[in-house]
Amino acid sequence: MQIPLINVHDHACAAQAALSPAAWAYFSGGAADELTLRRNDAAWEQWGLRPRVLQDLRAGHTRCQMLGKSWPMPLLVAPMAYQRWAHPDGESGMALAAAAQSCGFVLSHQTSTPLQDVAAWVAAEAMRGPLWFQLYWQARRDDLCALVQAAESAGYEALVLTVDAPVQGVRDRERRHDLTLPAGVRAVHGARASHEPVPGLCSGVLHRAPTWPDVHWLRQQTRLPILLKGITHSDDARQALDAGVAGIVVSNHGGRVLDTVPATAELLPEIAKLVRNDYPQATLLVDGGIRRGTDLFKALAMGAHAALIGRPAIYGLAHGGARGVAQVLRQLRDEFEMALALCGCPTPDAAHSGYLQKLSPLR
Ligand code: GLV
Repeated sequence: MQIPLINVHDHACAAQAALSPAAWAYFSGGAADELTLRRNDAAWEQWGLRPRVLQDLRAGHTRCQMLGKSWPMPLLVAPMAYQRWAHPDGESGMALAAAAQSCGFVLSHQTSTPLQDVAAWVAAEAMRGPLWFQLYWQARRDDLCALVQAAESAGYEALVLTVDAPVQGVRDRERRHDLTLPAGVRAVHGARASHEPVPGLCSGVLHRAPTWPDVHWLRQQTRLPILLKGITHSDDARQALDAGVAGIVVSNHGGRVLDTVPATAELLPEIAKLVRNDYPQATLLVDGGIRRGTDLFKALAMGAHAALIGRPAIYGLAHGGARGVAQVLRQLRDEFEMALALCGCPTPDAAHSGYLQKLSPLR
C-alpha cells in the first residue's frame, strides 16, 4: 500500500527517494553548516498563534494585493534553477501546477525551459497568480536588456532582481557530489558561477557585482515593476524603496548563500514595520522555511502581503511532476484556509501581530 503524502515533510522524503544523491544535495542543501537553512524552518515555530473565537467569517476569502492588483492566494513558487533536473515536467509543470492552484510563479533566470514556453503554458489561465521573472545581474548590460525585453514580450508581469548572491555561497553538501547536469538540462538563458569557492574573488568577480546605481539603470530599461529579492536589513529595505522599486522580498536565499544570517521569520517583523509605516504602496514578500499553512499565516500577521515557497514545490515536482507540485500547493492552501478560520481571521489582509505571541523556549 502506498503511504499518502500529507505534508511537506512527507513530500521531502518522497523527493529524496526519487532524486539522485547529487540532485538531492543541490535542491535540499544550504550553505556551509546550514545554520541559516535550519533556522529558517525553526524560527516560525518560535511564534505561537493567539486565535480569536466567535468571529463572523462569512465574508472570508484568501485574496490579497500584490503590486497594486488583487490575486487569489498570498502564495507564490519561488525562483529555482534547473527544474528539469528534478523532473522532466520542469518549469512548465511547476508553473502549470501553481496556476491550477491559484498561486503565483516566479521563473528563475537559471530556468532549464525557455521563458517563452513557460509563459505560453500559463499566461491565459483564468485563476492563476502572478507570473514574474527573476534576474541575476549580468556582466554585459546588453544581455540583461535582451532578457528583460524577452520577459516583457512573453507576458511576465514583474522582474525580481536577486541581490543577495553576487557570488554563490560555500556549499559543502554540493561539493561532496559531482554536480554535472544531466544531458539536455542547462540554464537556457545563461548560467552562473560554479559551486566551488571562487579563488581571487576580490580582484575578479566582485568588479562585476551590481550596486545601487545599477538598480536605477535597470528601472530605466523596463516598464515592468521591479522587486529586489534578498533584503535582510531594514536600511537596505529603505534604500530599495527610496530607489523606486515596487517591492522587496525578505529572503536569505533559503540559507543557500551566506550561512549564519538570521532566519527570515526573525528579520521580517522589523522590516515589515518600516515598510508598512513609511512605504504603504510597496509590496512586501518573504520566503524561507514556510512549511505549513500556519507559517504562511504568521508571515502575513507579521506584515508580509504574501510568501514564497521553494523547496516544498521542488519536492512535489521531484516525486510527482506537475501533479506532485499541485498536491503540495493544495495542502498548503487548505492548511492556510484552516489557519485563517481557526484564528478567527476572515482575510489575509486582516492578519496582524495581535494573532502572534513570541514563545519562550521550553526547557
Ligand atoms: C541559485 O540561486 C541557487 O541557490 O542554487
